[in-house]
Amino acid sequence: MRSLLFVPGDSEKKLEKGLASGADVLLIDLEDSVSAERKPAARQIAADFLKSNRDKNSQRLFVRINDLASGLADADLEAVMPSLPHGILLPKSNSGKDVTRLSAKLNVHEAHAGAPEGSTQILAIITETALGTLSAASYPDASARLIGLTWGAEDLSAVIGARAVRDDNGRYTDVFRLARALTVLGASAADTAAIDTVYINYKDDAGLARECAEAERDGFTAKLAIHPAQVPVINAVFTPSAEAVAQAQKIIRAFADDPAAGVIGIDGLMFDRPHLRRAERLMGRVGAV
Ligand code: COA
Ligand code: MG
Repeated sequence: MRSLLFVPGDSEKKLEKGLASGADVLLIDLEDSVSAERKPAARQIAADFLKSNRDKNSQRLFVRINDLASGLADADLEAVMPSLPHGILLPKSNSGKDVTRLSAKLNVHEAHAGAPEGSTQILAIITETALGTLSAASYPDASARLIGLTWGAEDLSAVIGARAVRDDNGRYTDVFRLARALTVLGASAADTAAIDTVYINYKDDAGLARECAEAERDGFTAKLAIHPAQVPVINAVFTPSAEAVAQAQKIIRAFADDPAAGVIGIDGLMFDRPHLRRAERLMGRVGAV
């Protein structure tokens, strides 16, 4: 999972385009990109789209439902769960308890649909409320369904009353840098993927590439997209390079050849157990691609 493309759930045209985008995951949105009046239509369109496309290709189809406090989440799940999406994206998660609650709801829907319990995965957006941001450490053991954590700046800026999320140089201001860092730490603590947030300037490929490179450097393994043109840029950065793969294989081989070693020298550089763990994680990502 490298790229996750948001598609407004009420747009049949964009859903079709999403299939051809090359995104690893489509996030069929029933939340912020769909107006209140269009929610019922979006639920129906999303359900039909899932039914006809969920088994057609390797792309994973997730639905972003409305948050658990919105009063809309149950109707969202009732509409889409019979079509068995591969996963649900939970927005405005306040803590791991929200993921546990969602998981319990999914148990019931899976039973109704005759699907194996636990087959629907969960992604959570954990920094859209102040409490959620401060609860980034609460996701270990929330649910075996959880496959990743991601973050958002726009909703958080609205709740805290910030007038901007970036400074004059385009850098996120402190609160949002903290939210970003807590997402990496929270995901690592929960042993799940850290997914970077959207880059809303969808015509600025250079800016997107820079942000992807920084995210990949800092421990994110995927990024959200809002436009099909962003997908190839994201996929390129988050696909481990041939060089990185060769280096990881070298490290894994060296430790395999000398299982008692705690530390090894390769080409004049020292490698110890954390390097081995990093190499194994990288190879895990190669397998997933
Ligand atoms: N998924 C699939 N197709 C998309 C798309 C998306 N996220 N965004 C744009 N497209 C399609 C357009 O429909 C258009 O198709 P066409 O050539 O057949 O007309 C084509 O890609 C080019 O789009 P473009 O004209 O550059 O953009 P736009 O003005 O149509 O749309 C947005 C701009 C921002 C409204 C659109 O990209 C969008 O809806 N993004 C997702 C928003 C979202 O889900 N937000 C919630 C999470 S933050
Ligand atoms: Mg939002």
